[in-house]
Amino acid sequence: MLNFQLHMPTRILFGAGEVEKAGEEAAQYGRKLLLVTGRTATKKTGVLDRVVRSLQTAGLEVLVFDRIEPNPRAATIDEGGRIAREAKCNAVIALGGGSVMDAAKAIATVAVSNRPIHEYLAGGQTGLWKELLPIREALPVITIPTLAATGSEANSIAVVTNWETKEKASISGPALFPVVAILDPELTYTVPASYTADGCADIFTHLYEGYLTGEGNAHVQDEITEGLMRTVIRFSRTVLDDPTNYEARAAILWASTLALIGIAGAGRGGSFPLHQMEHPLSGHYDISHGRGLAILAPAYFRHVYRDRPERFARMGRRVFGVQETDDLKAAEAAIAAVEAWFAEIGVAGSLKKQGIPRDALARMAADAVRIGGRGNGFIPGIRELREPDVLAIYEACYE
Ligand code: NZQ
Ligand code: ZN
Repeated sequence: MLNFQLHMPTRILFGAGEVEKAGEEAAQYGRKLLLVTGRTATKKTGVLDRVVRSLQTAGLEVLVFDRIEPNPRAATIDEGGRIAREAKCNAVIALGGGSVMDAAKAIATVAVSNRPIHEYLAGGQTGLWKELLPIREALPVITIPTLAATGSEANSIAVVTNWETKEKASISGPALFPVVAILDPELTYTVPASYTADGCADIFTHLYEGYLTGEGNAHVQDEITEGLMRTVIRFSRTVLDDPTNYEARAAILWASTLALIGIAGAGRGGSFPLHQMEHPLSGHYDISHGRGLAILAPAYFRHVYRDRPERFARMGRRVFGVQETDDLKAAEAAIAAVEAWFAEIGVAGSLKKQGIPRDALARMAADAVRIGGRGNGFIPGIRELREPDVLAIYEACYE
């Protein structure tokens, strides 16, 4: 196991009805809040009204900023930041999926620094790797996830798209850790089947990225990761059959948080090549992040598994019950098992079916390597992925 540091400062409240505590929690961080949310879902489900009422009952003044789009855009974030700054808000509260939570973190940054968010994004200067502006300060952020997927509720990452340049990149820094995360599984009952399944694919990908690419001797982390993978697979089926099954929604929501708050990946190193290849897809064509990951995964696996069959084989045996003793054959069985699960939950597909034109693949491959490769000319992982590799992977899942 490698040496590591782990910092997880977010206080987590978990359980049915916990959303009602939004007011008393937020009151610890100021009197005036910007409530950041999406354009439709939280109004339709009534949860926005519930949270506003809870905040007002606690004597807080609330401004609602309900303009966050999926794959949140830099211009919208800059506008939210301006409003929070001018209104002198003391804190930002995010109510929604990963897009809303990421946007809230970015808004909390812009509100303090008064600099456009694109100045913080990797690849901000087309054709070059641009050193990130460090994020030293942000307003306190409180998260209330309504969708289980990204883990953004308790990590220090935000992913933002500069819609003008179509560059999608992440920012992170200790100032972006939410101060409190209120995880109420009942809020995820209304997530439609397609986004529920996309979210499960995203959680699963957060787990296997480090597992497949990192050191193979982080035994505690491997056991945790495999347990979370089995949990996601098992309960993905339940939540799709029975969307208001509390135990299943609770298991998926908690797995989504645990998958990306540093515990599963600590001491392993590893990288996130699938994510670096997906971000240009959702950055250019606004597709669902989890769906993009699921489409790319089998092609990516087949591109690299022969370089490290033992990790794929282990995933196959421990997570999918593969019995094969030969590592190469077990690795192939693992890939087939992932594909079968993706097909079962309805996330399998092709880039073409997502409306992506073939002649866009080369530019997206260049973006993936430039932004995801951080100026090194390749995306790190099991194998260094250069532009021709990324293009070959996109081509392999195009039709
Ligand atoms: O648009 P609204 O009205 O908000 O509706 C949303 C959206 O259309 C809807 N939804 C959310 N909660 C709902 C609901 N519908 C009914 N009932 C509810 N309870 O679902 C749609 C998708 O929401 P979105 O927030 O876009 O999905 P997700 O949580 O998957 O977030 C995706 C974003 O997070 C980034 C992705 O790149 C993408 O931009 N990621 C963030 C990460 C992080 N911060 O750590 C890591 C991830 O790997 C990922 O890159
Ligand atoms: Zn993800």
